[in-house]
Amino acid sequence: MKLIAPSILSADFSKLGDEIRAVEKAGADWIHIDVMDGHFVPNITIGPLVVAAVKKVTNLPLDVHLMIENPEQYISAFTEAGADLITVQVETCPHLNRVIQMIHHAGAKAGAVLNPSTSLATIEWELENLELVMVMSVNPGFGGQKFIPAILDKVRMLKQSIKQKGLNTLIEIDGGVNKDTIKGISDAGVDIFVAGSAIFGSVNYQETIESFRRLIG
Ligand code: DX5
Ligand code: ZN
Repeated sequence: MKLIAPSILSADFSKLGDEIRAVEKAGADWIHIDVMDGHFVPNITIGPLVVAAVKKVTNLPLDVHLMIENPEQYISAFTEAGADLITVQVETCPHLNRVIQMIHHAGAKAGAVLNPSTSLATIEWELENLELVMVMSVNPGFGGQKFIPAILDKVRMLKQSIKQKGLNTLIEIDGGVNKDTIKGISDAGVDIFVAGSAIFGSVNYQETIESFRRLIG
């Protein structure tokens, strides 16, 4: 299964509903929503109100990426707003197991996210409880950054450990995904591709998504 998840961080927020309808029509599989608090990352973006607004205009699953400190305080606010999947940065979760349980109890699928410099060891004992692991291939905070190629080794190691444990955990990648990087990323074993600037910065969203699908086979 290979899925494309446009990140609305690079959408035109003055017409967000139209932008979301446009990527849905263009063949997107999920909508990726970047929540930033100005503490864990330098930028501030979206809260539950906007997630609820997005929910009204699409039937696609909402993939909510929390780049916030104390994410456990906001899980229910985001599931009530319509998040289908919530991913939390492991760097913000000293009690990752508890946070993952909270996400499941709130009725959403759960994922853990690793910053580029964060080791896979941080999720080794949580892997079986996660529907997905998201690997950051840029330092979180902004769209339009350059892909960090060393991350592909991390993806390959993660794939291997998922296989060894006999799990079906999906691997998602976030940051710097574009037509030049997506094939290598796919070959390393990624299932879900978040792309912000490469989709919303393109003239024809459908052509861009279709070209991605051709590259990942
Ligand atoms: C970065 C965000 C990403 C971002 C990706 O902190 O988590 O989802 O939108 O943007 P691109 O695809 O432009 O690198
Ligand atoms: Zn993201």
